[in-house]
Amino acid sequence: MAMERTLSIIKPDAVQNNVIGKIEAQIEGAGLSIVAVKMTRMSKKQAGDFYEIHKGKDFYDYLIKFMTSGPAIVQVLEGEDAIKKYRKVMGATMFGEAEPGTIRANFATSNAHNAVHGSDSAENAQREISFFFPERQIYSRNKKVTNSKLETAA
Ligand code: CMP
Repeated sequence: MAMERTLSIIKPDAVQNNVIGKIEAQIEGAGLSIVAVKMTRMSKKQAGDFYEIHKGKDFYDYLIKFMTSGPAIVQVLEGEDAIKKYRKVMGATMFGEAEPGTIRANFATSNAHNAVHGSDSAENAQREISFFFPERQIYSRNKKVTNSKLETAA
């Protein structure tokens, strides 16, 4: 399995509900390391660009409204098979479909208010990570990250 990085967002609903720590504990408990992190309130332009692939879908306008409604935690996770591993910890996107014990089963309250975001592919992880973090702000604990621009394999 490859060492990877993925982008994680703890969304405004979860931040407002004071469950940042509980979510981080689930992420770290799954063997993922937080290698970059910040709290930020996205502008309309940022959220629109970030979720560009959903433009035109019926939930798009509300998604942008929600994601800009308050601060979120944006962070880079690193670990073996990190993209798939984090998606498993998050649980399914649709409300009610997330496996018991996953972050979304624990904290989502609707399809839109689903507590967390995670990249869905290596290509998107690269794009989403560089959307928020330059490489110098990522504090890798492993030198063999395959989807990093740095390609620091020893
Ligand atoms: P996320 O993983 O951030 O990726 C896109 C987001 O759009 C998704 O989580 C949900 O928050 C939102 N979304 C996807 N499908 C729907 C839907 N059918 N209704 C409302 N929001 C949705």
